[in-house]
Amino acid sequence: MAKDHWTSDRYDSAASFVPKLTSKVISYLDVQPNDRILDIGCGDGVLTTQIAQSATSGKVLGLDASESFISTARDKYGSPNCNFQHLDCTKLDQCPEAVDGSWDKVFSNAAMHWILRKPDIRSSFFQNVNKALKSGGTFVFEMGGSGNVAEVQAAATAALIHAGVPLEKAREANPWFFPSAEHMSALLSDAGFEVQVCEHEYRATKLTAETVDKSGGLEGWVKLMCAQFLEVVEEGKRDAAAKEICDVLEEIITRHEDGSKWLGYTRLRAIAKKR
Ligand SMILES: C[S@@+](CC[C@H](N)C(=O)[O-])C[C@H]1O[C@@H](n2cnc3c(N)ncnc32)[C@H](O)[C@@H]1O
Repeated sequence: MAKDHWTSDRYDSAASFVPKLTSKVISYLDVQPNDRILDIGCGDGVLTTQIAQSATSGKVLGLDASESFISTARDKYGSPNCNFQHLDCTKLDQCPEAVDGSWDKVFSNAAMHWILRKPDIRSSFFQNVNKALKSGGTFVFEMGGSGNVAEVQAAATAALIHAGVPLEKAREANPWFFPSAEHMSALLSDAGFEVQVCEHEYRATKLTAETVDKSGGLEGWVKLMCAQFLEVVEEGKRDAAAKEICDVLEEIITRHEDGSKWLGYTRLRAIAKKR
């Protein structure tokens, strides 16, 4: 298991908008009272419990690789129809309950760009999701799409190089996979899905004291979301590298008309049926 960078407090204070900006993908999920739904990369369970509240006579199982998130999710939101399990979802088949073909829907929000980072696990991941679903079941997800926070990726890669990390290692430290809609459609089709929707949206996200880093500023977001970048920097140089990322971003993300700050989020959203 990779190092666990997540805690519910840090997530809530640095990126509370992530589970909130989900009305479209939740409408695509179209939860029915009897639904059995698997939530992949469920985080601290904020969205999972919301889904479970609509699947009143069904069941929701949230899976996540962060022990800290799963422990918070269980304590706060565990209920007879909402359970949580610690699992590295690159190995979904290590959880027999997840891949038993009994799920009406598989859902994921803002997690697959982390899970799918390594190219060699992508096809088995989609095959396992397919195996998890009942015949005719639906896979609905949202994740970062091509170009997502490109300014952050560039600033972080450069800050690592300035801190003495070789270019190749800096590239490898990038924890994300942000595919185009065309590439994602092909991956889904190859794994036995009929792609009904696969859309890419530029959704610039305004940073406010409410949505990003409640203490104000970018630093909390950078330290949480770029933790894997910063991990490869020598410990004594890490704070300076984080500061450099923030300093570089400051000008790029600030709108001249009113000084507001916006990160260039893009979203990839899909609905795919098991054939
Ligand atoms: C930005 S959070 C999104 C959490 C939640 N879905 C939400 O909408 O608030 C990304 C999540 O992906 C999870 N994640 C990353 N890699 C994973 C993996 N290999 N297996 C399972 N979960 C993973 C992280 O632990 C984290 O909870």
